[in-house]
Amino acid sequence: MDKIAVLDFGSQYSHLICRRIREGNVYCELLPYNTPAKVIKEIGPKGIIFSGGPASVYSKGSPKPDQEIFQLGYPILGICYGHQLIVDNFGGKIKRSVSREYGRADLIIDDKSDLFNRLDSKTKCWMSHGDTAEKIPEGFKILGHTNNSFSAAIGNQERKFYGIQFHPEVIHTDKGTEILKNFSQNISSAKPTWNMESFIEMTIENIQKEVGNDKVLCAVSGGIDSTTVAALLHKAIGNNLHCVFVNHGLLRHDEEKLVMQLFKNRLGIQIIYVDAAKQFFQRLKGVSDPEKKRKVIGEEFANVFVNVAKKNGPFQWLAQGTLYPDVIESGVSKGPAAIIKTHHNVGGLPKWLNLRVLEPLSSLYKDEVREVAKLLHVPNEFLKRHPYPGPGLAVRIIGEVTAKKLRISKDASKIVEEELEAADLYNKVWQAYAAVGDDKAVGVLGDKRVYGKIVIIRIIDSFDAMTADWTRLPYELIEKISDRITNEVEGVTWVTYAVSSKPPATIEPQ
Ligand code: XMP
Repeated sequence: MDKIAVLDFGSQYSHLICRRIREGNVYCELLPYNTPAKVIKEIGPKGIIFSGGPASVYSKGSPKPDQEIFQLGYPILGICYGHQLIVDNFGGKIKRSVSREYGRADLIIDDKSDLFNRLDSKTKCWMSHGDTAEKIPEGFKILGHTNNSFSAAIGNQERKFYGIQFHPEVIHTDKGTEILKNFSQNISSAKPTWNMESFIEMTIENIQKEVGNDKVLCAVSGGIDSTTVAALLHKAIGNNLHCVFVNHGLLRHDEEKLVMQLFKNRLGIQIIYVDAAKQFFQRLKGVSDPEKKRKVIGEEFANVFVNVAKKNGPFQWLAQGTLYPDVIESGVSKGPAAIIKTHHNVGGLPKWLNLRVLEPLSSLYKDEVREVAKLLHVPNEFLKRHPYPGPGLAVRIIGEVTAKKLRISKDASKIVEEELEAADLYNKVWQAYAAVGDDKAVGVLGDKRVYGKIVIIRIIDSFDAMTADWTRLPYELIEKISDRITNEVEGVTWVTYAVSSKPPATIEPQ
């Protein structure tokens, strides 16, 4: 399959470049900026994109690609910092701009022969840079300019090296997707064969080849990711797939019942149910540090799996619903993206189990997974459920997990979901829940002054959980949710609404 490689120089938009290219049905991978040319050659992309990044090409230790990359003969497009790398590499000159350019600008197109093919002569683009090209390298010509940048777009059309100062991957660049399509499909000649039908076909074939007659253990949570993994594997290897659902007691209301019904009655996949609520609760006693909670939960999951494997095994594989953003966010891609939270997975299994890990969705974004699930006939009501973190309420309870906080968070979250459903907003938001910690505030109950818990409502809009904005819910709805929580959930006196976006906040409070 034809693909494009994006070298990540640290821009917060790097993964968006991948998304846009994939929207044009060309497979695209994000790689660390210093991936050796030899490795890139093995991957064999049709073209390479250098992302933007916060560094200045002249600052000490600024990230540079392997020089050999320019000799591989692949078309290259540099974006922002990537553009400056190209200018610098071929003998042009970069300087600090007198007027830094931020925001939308008019791009006047001077050459429509390739990168800007089929575009109007003037189009809006998004600028965000402090450095600019003062002198463009020999062999390059100006393809477009703005008021502040005479060299906003340049190209050596013979060698197929291009540089653009603006960001085509953000929605504020009107024709960004077309520009990236021109680069990937016309200049680089990548065939647009990436779609979810072909992904399913290719993945099933790969799983069958790799797994053969081995037995696979798959932990399912009822979430879209693990359900999709299970559905894919079931199609590939049938009854050699053994799904396990662990009730760790930190689930949403009635989640365990729903999941069991989904697998048994709707998907026809056998599933082993383990009620481990008590043992998780015991192990979490006295633990208030969020990363420690994740660790404890990971370890406890591992204990459960060891027991399941002893009883039902031997298994050779463990399947997980890891997605592409998890791979990037856990720093595994080794790009400049730092580790933010260690997302829980069942990594701590003992070596003697000899389980190899199968992650069939690790190249997909969430919306791509949704499409795969739909194609695999996962019922609609499950497709629409909000994503839910593996450690469940443990990351929505700030401080130690106690029975009281567990009850409050579970009951209050149910009210949040019910009210969003009633207002026809549940499907319009990305995630919605009620968190609780140890803070208390005064309330008046009857004639009595009481200290009750403060509940935090968090409702956010997002596209892929990498960034998120708090949902501007109507005041009346916030009021209704608040009234219901203080009236119906014992021990709560105050309800607050979280108005921090990601970044700098994260979606979960812990
Ligand atoms: P944050 O809080 O990092 O969340 O902005 C991004 C997305 O990941 C989910 N999340 C987790 N999922 N294990 C998971 O499986 C975790 O430990 C975890 N922490 C956060 C979160 O719900 C959101 O969708």
